[in-house]
Amino acid sequence: MASLRALLRVVRPLRPWVGYSAPRSFAAGANFEYIVTERKGKDGTVGLIRLSRPGALNALCNGLFMELNHALDTFENDPAIGAIVLTGSDKAFAAGADIKEMQNRTFQSCYSDKFLAHWDRLARVRKPVIAAVNGYALGGGCELAMMCDIIYAGEKAQFAQPEILLGTIPGSGGTQRLTRAVGKSLAMEMVLTGDRISAQDARQAGLVSKVFPVETVVEEAIRCAEKIAKNSKIVAAMAKEAVNAAFEMTLTEGNKLEKVLFYSTFATEDRREGMTAFVEKRKANFRDK
Ligand code: CAA
Repeated sequence: MASLRALLRVVRPLRPWVGYSAPRSFAAGANFEYIVTERKGKDGTVGLIRLSRPGALNALCNGLFMELNHALDTFENDPAIGAIVLTGSDKAFAAGADIKEMQNRTFQSCYSDKFLAHWDRLARVRKPVIAAVNGYALGGGCELAMMCDIIYAGEKAQFAQPEILLGTIPGSGGTQRLTRAVGKSLAMEMVLTGDRISAQDARQAGLVSKVFPVETVVEEAIRCAEKIAKNSKIVAAMAKEAVNAAFEMTLTEGNKLEKVLFYSTFATEDRREGMTAFVEKRKANFRDK
């Protein structure tokens, strides 16, 4: 056992360069090193992922991302899960990309390794994802929150893209998603100065949908996720796809896609059930078909 620990001490720091094998069992999240996963909600319909790298304020090292992506895949493929909540600690959602891991990178290594390419798994999840942000959401941490569909913030949360202070720029969608969320002037100010904004300012700017006391934000995010999970999962995925198209398409193209997806809901049993339940004055019983 002692020799295994010694071996891990040598191998762990090398993982960003030699590739990383994900832990074998994820059922209870017990084998993760950088995250904790749980099922939440009355019927276990919400997948909770908590970033947990307290010694580094949840800085987003390669190993953390491999685990996060694995957990996302697991919840995405679990038919019982209707929505996912992503959170961190009270002090930090995530303080950004791991600067110590990045420090000695070169252009060649970034380009050859497609550095950060695996960061956008979160943005491709079809199930709704809610970020519950307390404390720092800086750089890659802010970008991670913005890849989620809804952001709830604790009242002491702080958002920033401080990469300019490190001599670089946001590398995982910060310049694009922040600008779409808060508009050009505030996005430029944040990206060019590195200044942080408060939860309240983020709410006012449209980055965050609701602000809660620190101790209730995760609970509220789970409550919202539970509400979403009660709806038809297949129709929720279509709704998410339609809203996300607004960021990619012209109004005409987006409206066209919306119409196609709207018509597509009529191919589902859940659409018939939803409308029939309304007419029969009872609660709909969606079966994700
Ligand atoms: N990477 C690696 N380690 C980090 C880190 C990061 N992004 N942020 C914090 N840490 C580590 C610190 O090095 C420190 O570790 P040690 O105790 O081993 O020295 C530990 O976390 C605690 O941090 P501090 O002592 O600095 O805590 P603080 O309360 O004094 O300050 C802070 C908190 C203001 C968040 C400060 O840590 C900080 O400024 N962090 C960096 C924030 C940042 O610049 N983020 C952007 C990264 S670049 C990026 O994300 C690129 C991209 O777009 C993908």
